[in-house]
This record gives sequence, structure tokens and C-alpha cells, in this order.
Amino acid sequence: MDKNTSQHDFISTVSHELRTPLTSIRGFAQTMLSSWDMLDDNSKKQFLKIIEEQSNRLIKLVENILTVSKFQNEENYVFKNISPNEAIKSVIPIVQQQYKNRKIVTQLNYNLPEILIDKDKFQQIIMNLVENACKYSHENTEVTVQTDFASNNQISIKITDIGVEIKDEDKTRIFEKFSRIDNPLTREVQGSGLGLYITKTLIENMNGTINVESNKNQTTFEVLMPICDIENQARAKCTQKH
Ligand SMILES: Nc1ncnc2c1ncn2[C@@H]1O[C@H](COP(=O)(O)OP(=O)(O)OP(=O)(O)O)[C@@H](O)[C@H]1O
Ligand SMILES: [Mg+2]
Repeated sequence: MDKNTSQHDFISTVSHELRTPLTSIRGFAQTMLSSWDMLDDNSKKQFLKIIEEQSNRLIKLVENILTVSKFQNEENYVFKNISPNEAIKSVIPIVQQQYKNRKIVTQLNYNLPEILIDKDKFQQIIMNLVENACKYSHENTEVTVQTDFASNNQISIKITDIGVEIKDEDKTRIFEKFSRIDNPLTREVQGSGLGLYITKTLIENMNGTINVESNKNQTTFEVLMPICDIENQARAKCTQKH
């Protein structure tokens, strides 16, 4: 697909994704204005709730689109030596607050060295994956975040949940733009299908990899990030992909 075609596809998908929540916000606002006296308090509250949810969906979508549009800009990555455990620990409470009926458990290896990454981007990766683990798992289950050493001088971050299975034939597709897999849980929760596309791109731009394992009981996303010693760091800084 040439660049213009993919740009055109992207814009038409984005327009569609923006129009859906906007149409619903306008519709419910119009109904409330024209039928105010006929609506009981419960209906008014219900309509306002939908308006709030759809606005949140729009905000998240716009944030995601901005992230995608900044991918090309090399200036946007600030590589520093960061403790992966500390970076992870500071974002878990944010997701936990959003999903009170999941228990996010951490199993962190405190011997891990610092790694050369962009801290904000790394935290966005973790948040996207932990948020998905909460969204697509059963109520009152545990979501586990594990860190450890991995082969080939890498560290491993595993996010595991107990929920819907990702079938083998969907394992590539979930990382593509705007792709969502139809299942009872996906139907229940909202999403733009951009999260994993963004996550994979950010990981690869920091020289890492992501893979997924899933069966009917649990799903694990594993992120591998390289450990650089001082010499390799100097080299990595020269060869960083953006
Ligand atoms: N932990 C998981 N367990 C089962 N299915 C998952 C999991 N994470 C992602 N998926 C599937 O992959 C699809 C794509 O995920 P992605 O994060 O890209 O989009 P999303 O969560 O639908 O929307 P958003 O852009 O808000 O993140 C999801 O719609 C879901 O079907
Ligand atoms: Mg998501």
C-alpha cells in the first residue's frame, strides 16, 4: 500500500471513529434539551452518563491519534537510564484506581539493572498492557506484572490476566491499527483498537520486542527490552531506531 493510500485509510477510519461518539453525544444532548420536562431524573442521569462516557472515549481517541502522528518524529524519544521496576510501580496505582474489581499484583526482581529507555514511553507501554489485562479479564481476578532477567542480555516484563483467549489467528492482527477482536468482553468495553499498535511501535522504537501467549484460561503479554552495558550503550545511542 503506498503512503497516500494508507494515509487516506487512516483518515477515513479516524473520521468514522470520531463521528460515532460525537453523534451519540449530540443525540443525547438534543433529546435532553427538547424533552427536559418529560424526562424523569433517572433518565436524565442515564443520558448524562452516556455523554460522559462518550466524551472520555473521544479524549482517549484523540490522545491515541496524537501519539500515532508523533511516531515519525525522532526528537520525541528521550533515552535515559531508568529502573524498570520503579517506572512500573509508579503507574500501577493509576490503572488500579480505574479498575477497582481487579487485583493488580507485582512480582518484581529487584536485582534488575537500569535500562536505557524513554521513561514516559515505557510507562505508556506498561499502562496500555495492564489496562488491557484489566479490560479483557473476568471480574474479581488477579492481573500479574512480573519482571525478571531473560536470555540474550534482556529483561522481561510479563503481564498476565485471567480472561478471554486470543486465538492464534488473531495474534498478529491485534497489533494492527484499529483492530479489535470480537468477543463478549470486547463488546462490553470500549476501545479504539489503537492501544497495541502504539505499544508495539513504542517498544520496537526502543529496540525491544513484544509477544503474546494465550489459552482459554489466561493471556500473557511479554515485553523484552535490551540491557546495555556502558560500551553497548554508547553504541545503542548511535544506532537507536526511532
Ligand atoms: N489481555 C488481553 N486479553 C484478551 N484480549 C486482548 C487483550 N489485550 C488486547 N486484546 C484484544 O486485542 C484487541 C486490540 O487491543 P488494543 O489495546 O489495541 O485496543 P483496545 O483495547 O480495543 O482499544 P484502545 O485503543 O482503547 O486500547 C482488543 O480489542 C482485544 O480484543
Ligand atoms: Mg487497549
